[in-house]
Amino acid sequence: MGNFLAGKVVAVTGAGRGIGRAVALAAAAEGAQVIVNDYGVSIDGGEPSSEVAAAVVKEIEAAGGSATAVADDVSTMAGGQRIVDTALARYGRIDGVVCVAGILRERMLFNMSEEEWDPVVATHLKGTFTVFRAAAAVMRKQKSGTLIGFTSGNHQGSVAQANYASAKGGIISLVRSAALGLHKYGVTANAVAPVARTRMSANVPMELKEIGEPEDVAAFVVYLLSERARADGVTGQVYTVAGPKIAVWAQPAELRSVYADGGGWTPERVAEVVPGSVGVDPMPMLARLEEMARAAKAAKRPNT
Ligand SMILES: NC(=O)c1ccc[n+]([C@@H]2O[C@H](COP(=O)([O-])OP(=O)(O)OC[C@H]3O[C@@H](n4cnc5c(N)ncnc54)[C@H](O)[C@@H]3O)[C@@H](O)[C@H]2O)c1
Repeated sequence: MGNFLAGKVVAVTGAGRGIGRAVALAAAAEGAQVIVNDYGVSIDGGEPSSEVAAAVVKEIEAAGGSATAVADDVSTMAGGQRIVDTALARYGRIDGVVCVAGILRERMLFNMSEEEWDPVVATHLKGTFTVFRAAAAVMRKQKSGTLIGFTSGNHQGSVAQANYASAKGGIISLVRSAALGLHKYGVTANAVAPVARTRMSANVPMELKEIGEPEDVAAFVVYLLSERARADGVTGQVYTVAGPKIAVWAQPAELRSVYADGGGWTPERVAEVVPGSVGVDPMPMLARLEEMARAAKAAKRPNT
């Protein structure tokens, strides 16, 4: 066992499987006492079971660590609160929360139902809020703590997962808001966009060029939870972790601007001035889609 997180209490949501499980095991192996939260659901959010969280607690205990299971649904305020309250009751403090829980309900936008939209946004975005909200109230008084949200490269947009992409974009804004709002209390907030082999990524229709294992992501999350990251001033950041690659995303910023002359803007003036000055910022995801469509067409062409 290492001691990167010695003396810390860390709660991980979605810790029963995939990346969350790897984060919980790695945090425990580095000396943290861990709250293992998992609602134990299928990939689309159905059939909950408390056995999934309990099994990871057993694994941690078998390796000599300390952990407690909470099988609540993170999309409820009571669930988020119970995760933090259990940490306080069992271990007396909460130093880090890692919100990994997630589900998928894939559908094209023009066919997507309310039953496909609401639970996906509730699990990812509200499920990060409920835990951040409960933890932030304690961390503010402690004057220390680390909040970690899980986003996705899909926050740039997605062909058939508008619900998931919207929630993942929202998590980035929530993380940046937490970083700003809690800075003066010594609390940091960051987001991780992983690419790792799990049951969820097995569903991705296209071949992923860069992918790794949940353990790669877990090592980075342990760093983010540690005093080392706090000393390095890491807050308000979005990182990709894909196997051997770690990348930081740019902060959003205005790219180009133009100002109206004395007369203000009319639709005609906008049409005259804006295309040649402000213009557009080409969408890399759209270029990639077009490239994939060309490759698919070329593959279909018979050899002559
Ligand atoms: N695997 C990837 O390549 C990848 C890529 C981008 C983003 N992500 C994100 O990383 C996170 C982990 O994904 P994964 O691939 O490990 O998925 P996974 O399906 O293996 O694990 C997700 C876990 O979350 C739990 N969960 C679902 N709803 C819950 C709820 N309401 N309350 C508590 N627990 C709940 C599930 O029971 C499951 O054990 C997700 O947020 C996902 O969107 C993963």
